[in-house]
Amino acid sequence: MAITITPLSERFGAEISGVDISKPLDEATQQEIREAQDKWGVTVWRKTGLDDAAHVAFSRIFGEVELAPRHPGKPSRMPEPELFDASNLDIEGNITDNASIRLGAAGNRLWHSDSSFMDIRAAQALLLCHEAPPHGGPTWFADTRSAYDDLPQEMKDKLEGLEATHSYFWSRRRAGYPYTEEEVDAKPHATHPVVHTHASGRKAIFVGAHTRDIVGMDREEGRKLIDDLIAWCTQDKYTLAVHYKPGDMTIWDNLCTLHRGGEYDDTEYRRDMRRTTVRAAGQQEVARDHYTTMFSAAGDTPFSPSEETRKRVLETL
Ligand SMILES: [Fe+2]
Repeated sequence: MAITITPLSERFGAEISGVDISKPLDEATQQEIREAQDKWGVTVWRKTGLDDAAHVAFSRIFGEVELAPRHPGKPSRMPEPELFDASNLDIEGNITDNASIRLGAAGNRLWHSDSSFMDIRAAQALLLCHEAPPHGGPTWFADTRSAYDDLPQEMKDKLEGLEATHSYFWSRRRAGYPYTEEEVDAKPHATHPVVHTHASGRKAIFVGAHTRDIVGMDREEGRKLIDDLIAWCTQDKYTLAVHYKPGDMTIWDNLCTLHRGGEYDDTEYRRDMRRTTVRAAGQQEVARDHYTTMFSAAGDTPFSPSEETRKRVLETL
């Protein structure tokens, strides 16, 4: 079955139609979809007709689908263990009034690459809309391959061989969650190259809100470089927004894009988005439940804050 690809900009983003992805797909169609995803970085699918099980099943065409983390004291609303709950709803399906979770979620509105804080990185993320605010509750995306292509040669030379540390807890601090620098120090970090080669063969910048320090560089200088790179990648010419209606889905490749959740009033409007995450290719079959392991090693998290952190959250608001 030939799919229809409608580009959303010259180098980045495409809407795909002409195929029913709620049903099993033949190998040729799967391959066409994977190639379109590698080329465009972000693909948008309207009126998919996917339910939770079909969402997970379709995700498997891209590789190993991760298990979502389980947090002590926060039972999941999701019927499938692979679904990450990206909503503002509690277990009963009501808008959450949990201050720690709401403040923690603010970090998702900073430009980031999902899971860059893990040793084993995420490639594709498939975000399906079940319920959206009236304005469509957009996600913004940035093209980190074109941003790399356009860097001055001098900057490309400077970035060659650099590595950076990434931590989930650092991006929460950046967004206003009341962790101290020392508390973030004590929590898990991962290290990744600042520039890497994507599956498409093109190079991409790999720096976002989780990125904390450049290895071997003075902390202040490193953070300025990180902020400069994020600002470079997220110039208007590299970005686009996707607005949702129920049934719509966006797939983005975390290894060649940045994204952020758009603003909306999360106390007023329900936003029920569910995401699967596909592990980067070439990673071994280890650490099946590595998200739960990482969060459990971190101890005090926005999902399961200590009493002391919970108090500080309330003072922060
Ligand atoms: Fe995200």
